[in-house]
Amino acid sequence: MSKTIKKIGVMTSGGDAPGMNAAIRSVARTCAFHNIECVGIYRGYEGMIEGDFKELTARNVKGLINKGGTVLKSARSKEFRTPEGRKKAYNALTAKGIDALVTIGGDGTFNGALIFNQEYDFPVMGIPGTIDNDIFGTSHTLGYDTALNTVVECIDKIRDTASSHNRLFFVEVMGRDAGHIALNCGIGAGAEEILIPEEDLGLDRLLESLRRSKKSGKSSSIVVVAEGDKIGKNVFELKDYVEENMTEYEVRVSVLGHMQRGGTPSCFDRVLASRMGVKAVESLMEGQSNYMVGLLNDKIVLTPLEKAVKGKSEVNKELIRVSDIMTT
Ligand code: F6P
Repeated sequence: MSKTIKKIGVMTSGGDAPGMNAAIRSVARTCAFHNIECVGIYRGYEGMIEGDFKELTARNVKGLINKGGTVLKSARSKEFRTPEGRKKAYNALTAKGIDALVTIGGDGTFNGALIFNQEYDFPVMGIPGTIDNDIFGTSHTLGYDTALNTVVECIDKIRDTASSHNRLFFVEVMGRDAGHIALNCGIGAGAEEILIPEEDLGLDRLLESLRRSKKSGKSSSIVVVAEGDKIGKNVFELKDYVEENMTEYEVRVSVLGHMQRGGTPSCFDRVLASRMGVKAVESLMEGQSNYMVGLLNDKIVLTPLEKAVKGKSEVNKELIRVSDIMTT
């Protein structure tokens, strides 16, 4: 039988994402609801090693539901990758009486949690938090929906200036390994072409498509490029390439960058974070460990952490076809 959980540590690690604070609040309040103590761990695994902790109560997490970023801060810890670092982290947790962990983050965060669990049999539960949405076992990661809305709003603004000057814009959006943001925002903002890591569109097809749209009477265009796309040229090289091959276009580049990770979480992310926090704490209380909480078909479900890390989150292929049709 699993031992009773008395004190849960919660941390955020990897790239921050809107909704992380709402998830911290949810973990703390679910703990309070069940008379479990909750401890916030600052700066991810780095703070865990150093014992940088703070008690979280139902009251001192007030005002977090609508706050972007993460009040617990985030860091990428090199030391936690070593057995010595993990030993220090284990000692710090046990000295504080923490007997289970909720880790909010992406792949790297979950890999750390898995290793830690294997070495110390420490109960862990993951909550997926990254704007990239590149985690297997959930249709939505925390922050993804907010990022989509931020990006669409930005591209709408770029469109105003693009059409005023009859220009072609390459807009680079985040997504190191996944095209979820690019694909959805491309369709949502009416992009001419969308370049994603999952599909190599090819330079010839890009030119062909831009020529076709010019011919059809379009005076300005937006091409959305995921930062990890595989066309073989970065967004600035793409600009040069298109300008060299299509003198009829005046081209500009806009790299949206880290603004995509900031801002007030959308209602969707706040609700998702609240649901995921409840499930994470209650699953630990039931003796479950080594799982990630996810959203599938509007149900909050558990996926083994190992599967979440190894599995691939596929982009919706239907969207690629929809985008093609929309640019007719
Ligand atoms: O959070 C994920 C992500 O936004 C990726 O899309 C991007 O490549 C990366 O983080 C940037 O990370 P950093 O903040 O370390 O530059």
